[in-house]
Amino acid sequence: MDIEFVTASAVVSEKCVEALVVVEGAVLAGRAGQLDGLSGGAITRALAAGRFTGAKDQVLDLQAPVGIDAARLVLIGAGKADGLSDIGVEHAAAQAYGAVKTSGLATLRLVLPDTLRAPRAALGVRLAAYRFDRYKTKEPQEKKPSITRTQVVVDDVDAALAAFAPLAALADAVAFARDLVSEPANILYPAEFARRAKALESLGLEVEILGEAEMSRLGMGALLGVGQGSRRDSQLVVIQWKGAGKAKPIAFVGKGVCFDTGGISIKPAEGMEDMKWDMGGAAAVAGLMHVLAARKAKVNVVGILGLVENMPDGNAQRPGDIVTTMSGQTVEVINTDAEGRLVLADALWYCQDRFKPRFMVDLATLTGAIIVALGNDFAGLFSNNDELAANLLDAATSEDEMLWRLPLPPKYEKGLESLAADLKNTGPRPGGSITAALFIQKFVGGLPWAHLDIASTAWKKPSSVPTIPDGATGFGVRLLNRLVAENYEG
Ligand code: BES
Ligand code: MN
Ligand code: ZN
Repeated sequence: MDIEFVTASAVVSEKCVEALVVVEGAVLAGRAGQLDGLSGGAITRALAAGRFTGAKDQVLDLQAPVGIDAARLVLIGAGKADGLSDIGVEHAAAQAYGAVKTSGLATLRLVLPDTLRAPRAALGVRLAAYRFDRYKTKEPQEKKPSITRTQVVVDDVDAALAAFAPLAALADAVAFARDLVSEPANILYPAEFARRAKALESLGLEVEILGEAEMSRLGMGALLGVGQGSRRDSQLVVIQWKGAGKAKPIAFVGKGVCFDTGGISIKPAEGMEDMKWDMGGAAAVAGLMHVLAARKAKVNVVGILGLVENMPDGNAQRPGDIVTTMSGQTVEVINTDAEGRLVLADALWYCQDRFKPRFMVDLATLTGAIIVALGNDFAGLFSNNDELAANLLDAATSEDEMLWRLPLPPKYEKGLESLAADLKNTGPRPGGSITAALFIQKFVGGLPWAHLDIASTAWKKPSSVPTIPDGATGFGVRLLNRLVAENYEG
């Protein structure tokens, strides 16, 4: 999608879609008034005649209005003017795109009630226009989106371009994360994920890849145990962005289970294909590093990806096996399907041991129980630090990637006691997301830490959010980018 900003006086009339974002009770001014005049009051008449009031989610579609060159004139309701948030602008713009994306026309021209919001509108269109169509070889032309260019009307083109630059970087990063999540596991296995992370070096990131031999030397028995049933080698990827000299880094760690069959504790066939997106946490961390580098953030950040494939095999780990983690703590593997916490145990320990970061945030599609608890519009937040938790909740609200904080009750640690080892990897079924978080907490070395269980939000089908097409959401990239920008830069 090409994005352009133009002033109303520089608009060249052409065959296109003209979309007006309308707030309730608004008078048609600027470009909107101009179009109304040219069309002999067509917009005024349409508004007067029907039930379109500018309320949120309303769409009014005028075909080929006389007097103007636009082949379609679409009005999108955005609700009350004073309550119009950045997210509201993104959604209205995304709805405009959605209404006409397969119209056969190539250009979408967007007119906003407040031209200062043009960069946000452009972000909304970029996010809505994401598609994962790499493997569709027979899609008929008329089903493919025809809109390839979006023009947003502004007063000051240079100011809009400057404000859009970091948002364009964000849209690129979200698309990068969505691609990783969407790729099937025969294409995106640990080494391929690591290669795609390595390619981020072109943005100025430092990327190291640790293979199984290196991880074995470091004593990562938990992570390696998960991957030992796979023909694909496990990988640990360490990405560094150095934007602030010698300052202590902050750190993000992602669960990257490229496919989760459950292992010997194998999952049922129904829906197992969903487990290709069990690397959504690692994708979000990779996406975060992408946007930080692309917008040259003034902060030092470490991103760690624990990449494995959880398979049943003659060499796979068994229920009852005891593994020794890099921290020295031993774990009895009761259920080989509770593998994400085993991966994170070694990735988090390695992170705090090597980098001594100010804090660590991990992201993981960790438990089915979080979906039961929160539904699909919230990810679970667990933290041992109220300030970090508050910063995450604020960022989540600003970016509409919602979090809900859940407790870490010490009493529930009883559920992880093993007869034979220091810990077992599963507790009782009730409170399953909580015991999973308590397990991970044993591997953060007492640092400020937060855990985001994104099993509920990494994938949306069907999606009801205009900026999120069905499938991979890229959840976490926006939220973490905002967290860093608002609290830890400069
Ligand atoms: N990757 C799954 C969690 C998951 C479930 C993610 C559904 C996305 C959608 C995780 O590895 C898992 O299998 N968790 C088990 C834990 C149980 C064995 C304690 C679960 O949630 O059933
Ligand atoms: Mn599992
Ligand atoms: Zn998993």
